[in-house]
Amino acid sequence: MPEDKEHPILTTADGAPIADNQNALTAGPRGPLLMQDIQLLEQMQHFNRERIPERVVHAKGSGAYGTFTVTNDITRYSKAKLFSEVGKQTPIFIRFSTVAGERGAADAERDVRGFAIKFYTEEGNWDLVGNNTPVFFVRDPYKFQMFIHTQKRDPRTNLRDMDMQWDFWSLCPESLHQVTILFSDRGIPRSYRHMNGYGSHTYSLINEKGERVWCKFHIKTMQGIQCLTDEEAERIIGKDRESHQRDLFETIERGEFPRWKMYIQVMTDEQAKNFRWNPFDLTKVWPHAEYPLIEVGILELNRNPENYFAEVEQAAFSPSAIVPGISWSPDKMLQARLMSYADAHRYRVGNNYHQLPVNRPRCPVKNYQRDGFMTHGEYGAAPNYFPNSREGTPQPAPEYKEPAWYLGDVTVDRYDSTKDHDDYTQPGNLYRLFDEGQRERLTTAIAKALGQARKEVQLRQLAHFFRADEDYGRRVAQKLGIDPSEIPGLVSATTAR
Ligand code: NDP
Ligand code: HEM
Repeated sequence: MPEDKEHPILTTADGAPIADNQNALTAGPRGPLLMQDIQLLEQMQHFNRERIPERVVHAKGSGAYGTFTVTNDITRYSKAKLFSEVGKQTPIFIRFSTVAGERGAADAERDVRGFAIKFYTEEGNWDLVGNNTPVFFVRDPYKFQMFIHTQKRDPRTNLRDMDMQWDFWSLCPESLHQVTILFSDRGIPRSYRHMNGYGSHTYSLINEKGERVWCKFHIKTMQGIQCLTDEEAERIIGKDRESHQRDLFETIERGEFPRWKMYIQVMTDEQAKNFRWNPFDLTKVWPHAEYPLIEVGILELNRNPENYFAEVEQAAFSPSAIVPGISWSPDKMLQARLMSYADAHRYRVGNNYHQLPVNRPRCPVKNYQRDGFMTHGEYGAAPNYFPNSREGTPQPAPEYKEPAWYLGDVTVDRYDSTKDHDDYTQPGNLYRLFDEGQRERLTTAIAKALGQARKEVQLRQLAHFFRADEDYGRRVAQKLGIDPSEIPGLVSATTAR
């Protein structure tokens, strides 16, 4: 049959036409096979290499393309081109994820959700790699890998283990704020469309005059917050492990495009010096009343990827991807993340992950990095060294220099990240803004999970709830059937508040 649009000819990976792909080449009808059947060998060998390592965290996820539209002028804070005028649009790609589960895990689990946004701006990609919560479990990067181990599987039983999780949390009271959010009504979003996103860390914005302010990013769902109870989630998972993927894909296919409003909070350096908590501590929020939300724009998702593996699995986000006008802060966790992600991509996807279509900036990329596995060779004959005296080669542009950070008299040391920190006021504030029903559901969800830990772990963790709010502690204790007098150190702890 001659080739036409309806009947394209099957080919080998090298492009040669294939006559038969149903019958292996054999010596006689009963076999054996011939080494010469390179089509069969190619198919088997390629298949054996279909998988790449899954993300060490956030392995299960869903993604889509869309647009960011500026709705409010923030040029007094940032010179980033994507914010340059109201109405300006920038293409985006967002990948949502759960944190702990593997690639095949169920979507509707109680877990933090990842909310990673790639803005393809004219001055490079800006990745805002956040979560659906404004804070995190730990404030020192040393504890990140340890924390993640407790969320994954026990080395011997290969099971998720509540004792391991609560053992760690009860020994790290800085986790209490995030634990309270995780077990609250917002702990299981109904879908990726029905949750907020947060940059979580403190970042900085730099304006045309070179002035820097500290900033937090908030992405609020315009579909309204909707969540699942444990019982609803269990019912959904029983029928459909891909409930978030299905929801996102199908609503976009139907033309119901999900939207989020992006806001910033802004803090000056002077305010940062006088803030009652460390403004760069990832376990803390900046109260809205003192640092109000300033609208920036709207994110809309309106196109599904054509190929999940190529575009979602190989998507590579990194907090190190910033553009002029947006920068980092001293936050120790953020600083550690600046190295970790690109390193993970080089292992998981390959050294030239930037060149894949989903990751490739939509602006020219010109530098002296060369070669490595699977490069497209997009630099052609251009020189691969610098400095050089050739015509038209890429040169640094000093006008993009960031303003210096004044750190005062600093001493380099390993500062104790557990000492002199208030780990209780903000989780307590969150608890106190919950109504009676929310308090009941929170403490029930906690008791259900904490009840699976050893008694000594339960007692240690109960002391933290009491320190945050006496009612919080009392309710969890009662649901665990524990008399508060059994909790070591509680009397001194509550009087200390
Ligand atoms: P506000 O009263 O100004 O803000 C309360 C915030 O709590 C709102 O953003 C609300 O989100 C959010 N919220 C309500 N229920 C939950 C829940 N179950 N889990 C997480 N967030 C929830 O007070 P403050 O700014 O002083 O913050 C008080 C506490 O609220 C904080 O300790 C923090 O735990 C939480 N919070 C604060 C945020 C901040 O940036 N200040 C951001 C998110 C949470 P919504 O408006 O969507 O209802
Ligand atoms: C994914 C490391 C903290 C949000 C990842 C990955 C690594 C990592 C190695 C996998 C990357 C990949 O293979 O593509 C770290 C380290 C942290 C940290 C070392 C702290 C020291 C955080 C925090 C947030 C966060 C605080 C949110 C505020 C995410 C998200 C993803 C991710 C959303 C998935 C991105 C995607 O969709 O591809 N992290 N992480 N991480 N992390 Fe972190």
